Amino acid sequence: MRLEVFWWIVLVKIVKCDNFPSLLTANASIAIVIDRQFVGDEHDTIKFEIEKFVDYVKREVLKSGGVNAFYFSWAAINVKRDFSAILSITSCEDTWRLFRAADPENILHMAVTESECPRLPTDRAITVPLITKGKELAQLMLDFKTEDIYDWKSAVVIYDEMLDRDMAGGLVKAISQRSNNEAKATGVSLIKLKRHLSKEDLRAVLSTIHTDTVGTNFLAVVGYNLVHGMMEIAKTLNLVNTETQWLYVISDTDAKFHDIGTFRKILREGDNTAFVYNISHAGDECVGGRKCHVEELILSFSEALSEAIKDEYEIASQVSEEEWEAIRPTKDERRNFLHANIKKDLTKNGVCGNCTFWKVSTGDTWGGEFQGKTNTINLHDVGTWRPNDGTSFTDVLFLHVAHGFRSKLLPLVSYHNPPWQILKLNTSGEIIEYSGLVFDIIRELARNLNFTFTVELINKTTIKSFNDSNLGAQDYALTNDIPRDLLTLVQNKSVAMGACALTVLEAVKNSVNYTIPISTQTYSFLAARPRELSRALLFISPFTGDTWLCLFAAIISMGPFLYFINRFSPVCDYKGIPRKGGLSSIQNCIWYMYGALLQQGGMHLPYPDSARIVVGAWWLVVLVISTTYCGNLVAFLTFPKIDIPITTVNDLINHQDVVSWSFREGNYLESQLKDAREARYRTIYNLRVKKSTNYTKFIKEIEEGKHVYLDWKMRLQYIMKEQFLEKGRCDFALGIDEFVDENLAFIVSPNLPYLTKINREIKKLHQVGLIQKWLKDYLPKKDRCWKNRHLVEVNNHTVNMDDMQGSFFILFLGFTLAVIWLTGEKLWFRHKSKNQRKVIQPFAS
Ligand SMILES: *[C@@H]1O[C@H](CO)[C@@H](O)[C@H](O)[C@H]1NC(C)=O
Ligand SMILES: *[C@@H]1O[C@H](CO)[C@@H](O)[C@H](O)[C@H]1NC(C)=O
Ligand SMILES: *[C@@H]1O[C@H](CO)[C@@H](O)[C@H](O)[C@H]1NC(C)=O
Ligand SMILES: *[C@@H]1O[C@H](CO)[C@@H](O)[C@H](O)[C@H]1NC(C)=O
Ligand SMILES: *[C@@H]1O[C@H](CO)[C@@H](O)[C@H](O)[C@H]1NC(C)=O
Ligand SMILES: *[C@@H]1O[C@H](CO)[C@@H](O)[C@H](O)[C@H]1NC(C)=O
Ligand SMILES: *[C@@H]1O[C@H](CO)[C@@H](O)[C@H](O)[C@H]1NC(C)=O
Ligand SMILES: *[C@@H]1O[C@H](CO)[C@@H](O)[C@H](O)[C@H]1NC(C)=O
Ligand SMILES: *[C@@H]1O[C@H](CO)[C@@H](O)[C@H](O)[C@H]1NC(C)=O
Ligand SMILES: *[C@@H]1O[C@H](CO)[C@@H](O)[C@H](O)[C@H]1NC(C)=O
Ligand SMILES: *[C@@H]1O[C@H](CO)[C@@H](O)[C@H](O)[C@H]1NC(C)=O
Repeated sequence: MRLEVFWWIVLVKIVKCDNFPSLLTANASIAIVIDRQFVGDEHDTIKFEIEKFVDYVKREVLKSGGVNAFYFSWAAINVKRDFSAILSITSCEDTWRLFRAADPENILHMAVTESECPRLPTDRAITVPLITKGKELAQLMLDFKTEDIYDWKSAVVIYDEMLDRDMAGGLVKAISQRSNNEAKATGVSLIKLKRHLSKEDLRAVLSTIHTDTVGTNFLAVVGYNLVHGMMEIAKTLNLVNTETQWLYVISDTDAKFHDIGTFRKILREGDNTAFVYNISHAGDECVGGRKCHVEELILSFSEALSEAIKDEYEIASQVSEEEWEAIRPTKDERRNFLHANIKKDLTKNGVCGNCTFWKVSTGDTWGGEFQGKTNTINLHDVGTWRPNDGTSFTDVLFLHVAHGFRSKLLPLVSYHNPPWQILKLNTSGEIIEYSGLVFDIIRELARNLNFTFTVELINKTTIKSFNDSNLGAQDYALTNDIPRDLLTLVQNKSVAMGACALTVLEAVKNSVNYTIPISTQTYSFLAARPRELSRALLFISPFTGDTWLCLFAAIISMGPFLYFINRFSPVCDYKGIPRKGGLSSIQNCIWYMYGALLQQGGMHLPYPDSARIVVGAWWLVVLVISTTYCGNLVAFLTFPKIDIPITTVNDLINHQDVVSWSFREGNYLESQLKDAREARYRTIYNLRVKKSTNYTKFIKEIEEGKHVYLDWKMRLQYIMKEQFLEKGRCDFALGIDEFVDENLAFIVSPNLPYLTKINREIKKLHQVGLIQKWLKDYLPKKDRCWKNRHLVEVNNHTVNMDDMQGSFFILFLGFTLAVIWLTGEKLWFRHKSKNQRKVIQPFAS
């Protein structure tokens, strides 16, 4: 056990590697740097005073230990020595240089330095700027800046005669300088107000400010009496809104009179306004100055040191020596201990400069109007400033710039209208779920602007009767039919926003404001999917009707032509060849030509060359005709012939005698078509029919190609999906034309200050594609009908009975014709032989 502890101690010692003497074994040492260049002739006096005071402290305060003080009269000292602390009275630059050298050695740094010097890090050092009373403004603004109380890239400084030239210069330097502490630089525009300014003058001055060029951050360093008027005028000039920040610095108040509360009444919804005001004491009992501060610091340090020594004795007396060596505070720990104690002591007992005291109040405005009956726009005290210890804030300076609505509850109003707003009720009629595109967006807005929301519901009863499974053509709520109640609630500012997708209508624009569109819906139409034509007559389709007619005429006329050529050719007579066989009758010649057409060839060729030329020419014709026919037939077999589809508005109008069309009465499309400039859209409007109330019938009519339905493309997709799920076929097709854009947006209370903020957030959501993605999630998923909605797919086709039936018909026709002909022939010959018998009989008898 003992051994274990020993090893542990050894280990810790190696790790610590921090070989500074404990306060028990050696006196703490402090370096007191009084820079001769900084203090000038007073150096010796100051040094003497300090030495005297240190002696006094050693005697009276540090009872149980000691402190060794080393004095330097230049700033470039070697801090590597075993100092516990440095007290420096140097210029700002030297203070920082000293700090950078001392900080890695974990030496506590107490700096008394010039005014307008950025403070050393407040968690490791103590800075006391020597401020002349009444000139603290620059230091105050600098402290705000280095502490990141405000974060401005640009600032408009408006100041009145209360600030003299030097002070104004110091202030601007404090705001704009890029300080040691890497605080960001700020661009500054200056506006000086004249003495005795009338309201009109003030308005004239402020109206020259263009926030595009000078930025949106205002620092008004003005007298108390001017603040009221300035706030009002700035508000009317729209210089106070959600985007701008106003910091009023009021220096002519004091401990007795500082009624900032009156400004609360001028604060409006959406303002970012804060006040920094002087509550310093004016009395003579106020003490300050270098001597006071230095002595106070030394005193506090000694007390802290004394405390530390006492602590160490106490602990050391309870443990063994080895253990003590292990657990005694490191140099860093000791510095923190001293720092914390000095700070505490200064805050509690510090009297130097205790008269100078400033307070910070800020407006809690956002969402105040919507927190019920009482106006809850408030002023909160968020911080203080003192020269000794600088800023001390309990909250941020501009509440809403940092935290948006600060989780305030905003009332919204909505109603059920899928897929935009989908509200679910439980059996007792409470809303248990909000979804739909609108609430996806609202939720994102709430996250980014930091608000929570409640939803007031209008038309609660419609939710239950609504069936989500057919979002298509049933009686959905029209987005351009904005419920009266909803409009009233938004208009009289009972709610902040209508959380519902509503059509942007000019008529509504003058009572409420719209956000930018969350979605744009286009209209299209739903028609029957074009069908394949019957293939029974496929074999005649390669040629058009007149081609067939010409061909027929050619066959009929070529026969007689061949006959006459053949008949009147003198070659046979000349050569004495008997004219017999096939081509000696017109009838045979026609059959011959027909046979040639089908590439069967005749039994004989005509003998005369002239007739052979005719036949030869015919063969050439036949070659062309039959090749064309065969080729085309194959093509028709492969690519089925499709009905002419209705895909555009013009198609639709051209088919007006075949199809009727309709759309939902009272929707946005109706109003747009009615007033359309293009004649074809007015035609669509004029020739519309009333939509059938019987849904089954209505769908059937579309399916049969008798009717076309015009609506949002989205809804048509729902109908298609529904029908596909029901029947498993793709019976519908969408038009290619998309016409009439309908913009959907939220409505907000008139002149709601947050409209620009909301719009920006919505725009961002559009840009990253979130809204599109969310909407897609609510739309029907892609299916078989989805692809080639407009075209019928071309697939490879095996020839089947549908294609062949035509030829079988021909065969059957030929057969029937032959039988009829046979009967005719039979009858004809019987009749003829009867006549012959009649004629012959007299000879016989
Ligand atoms: C420590 O300080 C005491 C009184 O402050 C002094 O009497 C003593 O000499 C100092 N010891 C050392 C080692 O400097
Ligand atoms: C703050 O108020 C005190 C007391 O009225 C006054 O002496 C001091 O000059 C004021 N500060 C400024 C910056 O005006
Ligand atoms: C400042 O300190 C002095 C001296 O202790 C005291 O009389 C005075 O009341 C203090 N002032 C404030 C504002 O605390
Ligand atoms: C939202 O507001 C609350 C209350 O003020 C605050 O605590 C929180 O940090 C804020 N959230 C954001 C992200 O700003
Ligand atoms: C409906 O929801 C409300 C609020 O969440 C709850 O108080 C109530 O018990 C629920 N009713 C049923 C039947 O679940
Ligand atoms: C409720 O909805 C129906 C149909 O959507 C509508 O006709 C009616 O005007 C609505 N009622 C109210 C109070 O808005
Ligand atoms: C909605 O319609 C589907 C089929 O059309 C039906 O099965 C379901 O019960 C209906 N739901 C309600 C709440 O009416
Ligand atoms: C706003 O209108 C609603 C509905 O008409 C009404 O109940 C409410 O009291 C009105 N609120 C105000 C502040 O006028
Ligand atoms: C809001 O509507 C009012 C009319 O009610 C109009 O004057 C104002 O310009 C609108 N605001 C915006 C930002 O469009
Ligand atoms: C709707 O039309 C279908 C087919 O035309 C018919 O069978 C059905 O009875 C009709 N329904 C109603 C409610 O008229
Ligand atoms: C076309 O024919 C090929 C080979 O016979 C077959 O694999 C393919 O599935 C056919 N495509 C269609 C669309 O029928």
